[in-house]
Amino acid sequence: MNILAIESSCDETAVAIVRDGREVLADCIASQAEMHEIYGGVVPEIASRKHIEAISALAEEALRRASLSRKDLDAVAVTYAPGLIGALLVGVNFAKAAAYALGLPLIPVHHVRGHIAANYIAYPELQPPFVCLCVSGGTSLIVDVRSYTEMEILGATRDDAAGECFDKIARVLGLGYPGGGPMDRMAQGGDDTRFVLPRVHMQDAPMDLSFSGLKTATLNLIHNLQQKGEEVPRSDLAASFSAAVSDMLIPRVMEAAKRLQYGKVAVVGGVAANSRIRRDLEKACQKSGNELYLPPLSLCGDNGAMIGSQAYYEYLAGKRGNSTLNAYANRDISLG
Ligand code: KG4
Repeated sequence: MNILAIESSCDETAVAIVRDGREVLADCIASQAEMHEIYGGVVPEIASRKHIEAISALAEEALRRASLSRKDLDAVAVTYAPGLIGALLVGVNFAKAAAYALGLPLIPVHHVRGHIAANYIAYPELQPPFVCLCVSGGTSLIVDVRSYTEMEILGATRDDAAGECFDKIARVLGLGYPGGGPMDRMAQGGDDTRFVLPRVHMQDAPMDLSFSGLKTATLNLIHNLQQKGEEVPRSDLAASFSAAVSDMLIPRVMEAAKRLQYGKVAVVGGVAANSRIRRDLEKACQKSGNELYLPPLSLCGDNGAMIGSQAYYEYLAGKRGNSTLNAYANRDISLG
């Protein structure tokens, strides 16, 4: 089954063609990061316009790269939630039009379910159940992936997402947007014990996360140093910040793994590219005897292939969209 998959939830326009959920025939991405860098973050209206400009040509390019024609397609899939509403609507409307014009089924896909499915592409043998940490610019979740289409949130951020914090601190440090990658590189060789930053724990919900305190404490620290005319030791700060984020994420994921006893832990989303988080997880999983699934960096960020993969399993479970399909800025992952 060849699925044409569309992703436009944030600042990447992506179109992929995926066969039977696991084989990527084409994966085309047009990133808008350069455009948004000027403003230090994603400008939703600009994102929508850029998606409109890119999407048709990208779909043609995906077909060309896969050496397929339109009649070789069996379904059209699209990210319909969560994300920037205007950006999502571009993909949803393109997918609706394509499905209608080609007489194909339409499959709506939840963006975070897509991120989780990046693992199915990277690890052809992987099957649910497993525990998945989803950490991106807009999401920080610990998910119980019971089956391909049944999922429950075990812990979620109550405020900022981890990637959002990396981006905000990076911006103040003059590292550009998106800042997670540059922060990660800056942290290499830095002293992660130089600054003691808060690790938040919520008594009533031990699996939940909160990054706003860490973000504020780090920003205050930087501003204080700047006000005193002192140089900000960027490498040590980036290392200390990365350590704090990792210390909040890893123990919670491992606690979930202990409770559920699946023996499998996966990590997805742009922040899964972080070397400190990857290293700490590898150690924790080795110690606890869990198999760790870390998709390659190319599959960690937003892409169309992950949407095409999840779409296949949604299709098998009977999920279909029609011409009334809408986009949603927020939607619980358990609802699909
Ligand atoms: O999954 P993604 O591409 O888009 C969203 O759906 O949000 O994630 C982008 C996020 C950005 O916040 C970016 O700064 C962060 O992932 N990121 C990183 C790293 N690479 C990307 N954060 C920390 N360390 C990295 N190496």
